[in-house]
Amino acid sequence: MVDNQHWLDRWRENRIGFHEAAVNRHLQTYMARFALPHGACVFVPLCGKAHDIAWIAAQGFDVIGIELSQLAIEAFFDENNLDFERFETDRFGVYKSGNISLLQGDFFDLSNDDLGACSLVYDRAALIAMERPDRPRYYDHMLSIIPAVSNMLLVTLDYDQAEMTGPPFAVPPEEVRRYYGDSFSISLLESSDIVDKAPRWRKVGLTALRESVFRLDR
Ligand SMILES: C[S@@+](CC[C@H](N)C(=O)[O-])C[C@H]1O[C@@H](n2cnc3c(N)ncnc32)[C@H](O)[C@@H]1O
Repeated sequence: MVDNQHWLDRWRENRIGFHEAAVNRHLQTYMARFALPHGACVFVPLCGKAHDIAWIAAQGFDVIGIELSQLAIEAFFDENNLDFERFETDRFGVYKSGNISLLQGDFFDLSNDDLGACSLVYDRAALIAMERPDRPRYYDHMLSIIPAVSNMLLVTLDYDQAEMTGPPFAVPPEEVRRYYGDSFSISLLESSDIVDKAPRWRKVGLTALRESVFRLDR
């Protein structure tokens, strides 16, 4: 079972194959298309220590991230040579550095007050970190906490779930449309088979691995 302890253990044991060595290429390609005003707020759920956080902040946007692991958050600030302030609220450890705020705690404890006026959600390896039985709760919670005007850039993976247990978990595009289709207009920006992009996918037995990038607009 992939519960919170699973993720904390992975960070402690440095089993973080999901962490990308560079800024995500889809983020770099598509973020500008949302034409966010300078100073707009971007919400990064399940943010890990992704370089994406610093990149978004460097574009002049405020970033709010949520991440279970204190190790991940402190590694992010350390690796990016950023000083931070830390304080506790009733639900989160809050780390702040310039226009970056990272909340250490559980995504499911977030409320819409915590996200203020975020105008974009950047979901890379967050939805697909959830097992299938947990995903309806994830979609529902996301929709309940993000502002009614917030758009989303979403990167998913899909594969034959019988070939690998995950994470990452297979999220079929139809599922995204089923859960988000009433709230957003959904466009598929690109989709390709990335099974040969890294040796680990064939090694674990995958024969195909489809990565899809969606733009979700209100
Ligand atoms: C697959 S990783 C992706 C991290 C990041 N988005 C990236 O692109 O590198 C999923 C992350 O979500 C965190 N996580 C899992 N469940 C969470 C939850 N309920 N609340 C907050 N963070 C969670 C894990 O600790 C892990 O860092």
